[in-house]
Amino acid sequence: MSIVEQAVRRLEELRRSGIEPPARTGRVPVAPQSAPAHAAPAQDEAATPRQVPYVQSEPSESGKASRTVNIDLGALAAAGYLTPETPRARIADEFRVVKRPLLSRIEASAGRPGSNLLMVSSSLPGEGKTFVSVNLAISLAMELDKTVLLVDADVSRPSVLKRLGLPQAPGLLDLLTDPAVGVSDVLLRTNIPKLSLLPAGRQHGRATELLASEAMRRLLDELSNRYADRILLFDSPPLLPSTESRVLATRMGQVVLVVEAEQTSQKTLEQALATLEQCPDVSLLLNKISRSEVGSYYGYYAPDEA
Ligand SMILES: Nc1ncnc2c1ncn2[C@@H]1O[C@H](COP(=O)(O)OP(=O)(O)OP(=O)(O)O)[C@@H](O)[C@H]1O
Ligand SMILES: [Mg+2]
Repeated sequence: MSIVEQAVRRLEELRRSGIEPPARTGRVPVAPQSAPAHAAPAQDEAATPRQVPYVQSEPSESGKASRTVNIDLGALAAAGYLTPETPRARIADEFRVVKRPLLSRIEASAGRPGSNLLMVSSSLPGEGKTFVSVNLAISLAMELDKTVLLVDADVSRPSVLKRLGLPQAPGLLDLLTDPAVGVSDVLLRTNIPKLSLLPAGRQHGRATELLASEAMRRLLDELSNRYADRILLFDSPPLLPSTESRVLATRMGQVVLVVEAEQTSQKTLEQALATLEQCPDVSLLLNKISRSEVGSYYGYYAPDEA
């Protein structure tokens, strides 16, 4: 059975269990992704790569030093993440399947405002937004002609740097609150070619409100235009506990909504989808499918491509 046939079968299973894919045109796929055997959720923090220091500085386009950080790729792979050094790993295959339709739609909408902005969110905490964001960013950066900026927009509970084994650093919140800080002051290059990071930055009392602010809208415009040839991938807060990430979602070209297998309920998913009514393009990604299920199914389904 082909991947697509398998995916269709899984989609039908989801339908039978009451989870309807969004009917509105523009909201498309179910893109499942499985759990690597050695990345059990409860052990994740322990398995996080050890923190390594920044390794070098080099001049950025503003003339200021833009730092390069060194991600411990061996530790990252051991924690269940994909890396450029493990292109044949199962997780790499899975994200190849996930990224393809996202890339097609970025290309199809090229030139439209925000078409290069891609947000990963979910209904509730813990469903796998950061796991998916990090893997998807690395997978996209491994494309021949794609450059990626991974933004930690989960500003009140940032975890991208920690997940990559890197120490905290200034970032998005500093950009939003300190006019003296420029993008190139906080952008971090990495030892993964074509992958840069924009950390969440220094904690701020009104961090989540800032996400929905006019300053954030202006920054998104600036980032989207300045890095028009890059994909900007936002790891974001969950949609249901607070409203700010919903506002952020309206400013994105695409939203990937992570659904946790066996956990996210139909009602919760419906509520989350309702918060994304204003978004032109929402994809569903089924995460943490058990190994046995992966054996019988893994793939991607988009009605307009079947
Ligand atoms: N496919 C997967 N396979 C194995 N572990 C996973 C997978 N997806 C997520 N996890 C693990 O589940 C836990 C929660 O994932 P993650 O932190 O990415 O979720 P989140 O939605 O970003 O959470 P939060 O809302 O707290 O930011 C982590 O320990 C993570 O490593
Ligand atoms: Mg997270």
